[in-house]
Amino acid sequence: MLRSHHCGELRLENRGQIVRLAGWVQATRNLGGLTFIDLRDRYGITQIAFNMDDRAALCEKARKCGREFVIQVTGIVAERSSKNPNRPTGDIEIIATELTILNASKVPPFTIEDDTDGGEDIRMKYRYLDIRRNPVKNKIMFRHQVAWHTRHFMNSRDFLEIETPYLIKSTPEGARDFVVPSRMNPGQWYALPQSPQTFKQILMVGGMDKYFQIVRCFRDEDLRADRQPEFTQIDCEMAFVEREDILNTFEELMQYLFKEILNIDLGSFPRMSYDEAMENYGNDKPDLRFEMKFISPDNLRGKGFQVIDQSECIRGIVVKGIESVFTNKEINDLTEWVKRPQIGAKGMIYIKYSTEGVKSSISKFYTEAELLDIAQTHQAAKGDVILILTGRKSDVLKQLSELRLEVARRYHLIPPDSFKPLWVLDFPLHEWNEDEQRFFAMHHPFTSPIPEDMHKMNSDDHHVIASIRAAAYDLVINGTELGGGSIRIHDRTLQSRNFELLGFSAEEAERQFGFILGAFEYGAPPHGGIAFGLDRVCAVMQGSTTIRDYIAFPKNNMGRDMMIDAPSEIDNKQLKELGLIK
Ligand code: AMO
Repeated sequence: MLRSHHCGELRLENRGQIVRLAGWVQATRNLGGLTFIDLRDRYGITQIAFNMDDRAALCEKARKCGREFVIQVTGIVAERSSKNPNRPTGDIEIIATELTILNASKVPPFTIEDDTDGGEDIRMKYRYLDIRRNPVKNKIMFRHQVAWHTRHFMNSRDFLEIETPYLIKSTPEGARDFVVPSRMNPGQWYALPQSPQTFKQILMVGGMDKYFQIVRCFRDEDLRADRQPEFTQIDCEMAFVEREDILNTFEELMQYLFKEILNIDLGSFPRMSYDEAMENYGNDKPDLRFEMKFISPDNLRGKGFQVIDQSECIRGIVVKGIESVFTNKEINDLTEWVKRPQIGAKGMIYIKYSTEGVKSSISKFYTEAELLDIAQTHQAAKGDVILILTGRKSDVLKQLSELRLEVARRYHLIPPDSFKPLWVLDFPLHEWNEDEQRFFAMHHPFTSPIPEDMHKMNSDDHHVIASIRAAAYDLVINGTELGGGSIRIHDRTLQSRNFELLGFSAEEAERQFGFILGAFEYGAPPHGGIAFGLDRVCAVMQGSTTIRDYIAFPKNNMGRDMMIDAPSEIDNKQLKELGLIK
């Protein structure tokens, strides 16, 4: 071993011991007679002291060590005269007796500090330097904890971790596939899995009973803070279960992870139907860390105010206790915010309730008594503000959902360090697509209807089909969808009917999904499952809005790996071999 201890380990108890450490030079301080090096490794930082009087040559050598040099030091652990209470090793230092420079380093392009001066792009390009910084390093270590505890839990429940292939045929999860040409089969392509969906179902037909896999998935979709083109799922499937069994098992997994890793009791998870979530929060993944359920101030109708009277939908939120900070400037800012094209509202109505009375953008059209009546109906008190949007229902729900989140952020209404889990249930099975004039599976085509709606599967009535509810569920924590799954169809006839409803001809369904339809003819057990986004689970557990730092080598917003500079062109020889050019 090149070291006897690591850099986060030594304490006063080790005083007098001869030790050998190795790591990176965080900083060098030259104080004339003394030179100090802060030596860093994955575990921490230890101060090394070089004494000019005792060992002049060694001290000279230490002074030549620049930032990020890799060095090995032998020395004696000593008590420090000026201690650093902010560092676990701050009571001691190593009086160096030997120094070996294991490797030099160029001056790094940004500082390797918690608060670095490096911008996003440069840190992505030099990811190995960024990983040396605590904020990134700690997140990667945290991810290891989550994955490790997940495996422990799943193993304790008899789940088997089984690998499924990466070179497959397209699985329809709603995004585009990344495809790979086949040299041995010119003109033919593999697709990288968007998820192992069909394989895990086939494992159930194969009798494996309880499967899980921490697995990479690939989706060619537009990227956001919580989306990467390759990301990792905790993918799970169980046979001989009903929805309730899956919800219970995976509620326990989440409770276990939060307890073991964060020492937080999540309690049991509330449940909400998709319809309830949309009506009350305009969103299928409501953030329940704060209330602000939508209100329907319909008693504003019929008083002669056109904007209200002619609106298909009027919805609002009661924002508690912000009246005193909701100045004219704030009102203008927020109104401009809802009018941005990304939100698309035409305007925003406000009603402020204070000790001086009521102030509102619609005072001209309503008496104070009428506006007070709205407050009374919707439990708004003095100090509160009601914000209202009007328009087409689908637009208003979406816009107000965004406004609700923005207001919570702006006025600090989200309690820190709180976790609010929620199961969202009973999603629609299908979603009508106006452009393509056909239904799409809201989750995926293997999802079963709930038993109560099974009879609707044979209907030819568009409205009846649109009303079928799926045995699907999403786990949402703090407004982020962490996982989703469903009870699957395991009957060949029903699966064929579902493909038919989704606009597949019998031949197309056979060509694309013949393998799974075939498997359903050989004794497929009832089964269901769920997949969690591991990257998102980590980010939400640590209150982070971006998953990027939980991935050791992430892609940027253009889907590029800045470090290896991919994607990139390939040479003609390779293209010819693949049969892609003549
Ligand atoms: P779904 O498509 O809902 O379901 O994905 C499951 C979970 O994976 C995470 N996720 C992502 N994370 C990061 N970047 C992405 N681009 C990305 N896309 C999805 C989310 C999501 O909740 N086969 C089904 C699961 C099942 O039915 O069992 C599936 O993949 O956290």
